[in-house]
Amino acid sequence: MAKLAINGGPAEAAELSAMLPPWPHATEKDRRALLEVLDSGQWCRVGAGKGGWSRVDAFDGEFAKFQDAKHGVSVANGTVALELALRAMGIGSGDEVIVPALTFIASATCATEVGAVPILVDCDHDTGTVSASSIEEAITERTRAVVLPAYHGYPPDFDAILPIARKNNLKVLEDAATGVGTEWKGRRIGAMGDMGTFSFQQAKLITSGEGGIVLTNDDKLAETARLIQNIGRVHGPLVNDFLITSSNYRMTEFQGALLLSMLEDLPPQLELKRRNGEYLADQVEKIDGIKTQKRDPRVKFSRYKFIMRYDQTAFGGITKERFIEALRAEGVGVDERAAKLIYRQTAFATGALGTTLPKGLKLPDYAGMFLPNSEALLKEEIMLGHTYMAVDKSGLDMIVASIEKIKTNVDELKVAPSIKR
Ligand SMILES: Cc1ncc(COP(=O)(O)O)c(C=O)c1O
Repeated sequence: MAKLAINGGPAEAAELSAMLPPWPHATEKDRRALLEVLDSGQWCRVGAGKGGWSRVDAFDGEFAKFQDAKHGVSVANGTVALELALRAMGIGSGDEVIVPALTFIASATCATEVGAVPILVDCDHDTGTVSASSIEEAITERTRAVVLPAYHGYPPDFDAILPIARKNNLKVLEDAATGVGTEWKGRRIGAMGDMGTFSFQQAKLITSGEGGIVLTNDDKLAETARLIQNIGRVHGPLVNDFLITSSNYRMTEFQGALLLSMLEDLPPQLELKRRNGEYLADQVEKIDGIKTQKRDPRVKFSRYKFIMRYDQTAFGGITKERFIEALRAEGVGVDERAAKLIYRQTAFATGALGTTLPKGLKLPDYAGMFLPNSEALLKEEIMLGHTYMAVDKSGLDMIVASIEKIKTNVDELKVAPSIKR
């Protein structure tokens, strides 16, 4: 009789999906906060200086404090946060910006959107974060900045990278879109370099549906960022003078209110997910053929995604895709979407990088690139969303038992029909 659920056997983690908390999720307190904005008549930050209290301004301060930064400048989403930060640091036409190839595309398109060229580099295999030596090798006389994404919550190696950036006079932009709560040597990330950005899009660990913020410890950069965010107009009582040409990056008071309320409730959620992530990592690493991201005493990280590295040779040659099918059949809803390296995205592979780059600029041969660690990691990675880190221990044990069951019955999997979705 079949043992594996993919062959009709009983699912090992049949009860797991019912244990997952809904996400996003609003409490009564969140609802009240939104209704207060609705009734206040102050839906937009502009003009809040006339006696109205701005939730967005309050959130700027609270979130910056939470991430150990001096200034926060909220914006509409994490993508424009990156663009605004590059603009504030004076990165523009024809400059080169070093970005890892294994990240969300916005880490690189922030460069093209300000007229700069993304130079794509490799990652470290055991963390997924940008490799310091790859950065060093990619520096030319046109390099002006480096973008350092937190890899699904895991921070880059600041000890190795910041001195290289300093030595070569490069601006450092952290893309901490997924790094809320992550710490490097006891300090939360986001203002480790010149500027850092976060996303509050619906899937993130704290969310207002869409939203983002730019953090910095630099007073002058903060002032410039606020001007850029506000169409070139200074914050405070409404004036009709625009000091620079810019765009409107602002978020609404609804977003500010929701984020303020969610931030209050965030610390225990982060701690639960972090503790559970450590427990799950300890358990799955006991299985030959499964590894997780490197544990580093300098790092305390929020697992926006729980990342496993799958070694198919330890699983009788079963491909990752086939293993994922079997795991999903057991009731463990690992992410199905295959990520793409940035140089394989159509826009980059075909050179369709929009109209913002200077005409005639020679671009790297993105289509011809092959970065070995990024390619290898992409082939091995299996991810679970952060709500899996919010179930109780019995749920985490179901995940481990499902993997063990597949391993024990791997021969059965070799002959099982593929599930066509
Ligand atoms: C690493 C990274 N950078 C930037 C972004 C863009 O954020 P947003 O979706 O808020 O525009 C994301 C979103 O998922 C991301 O994961």
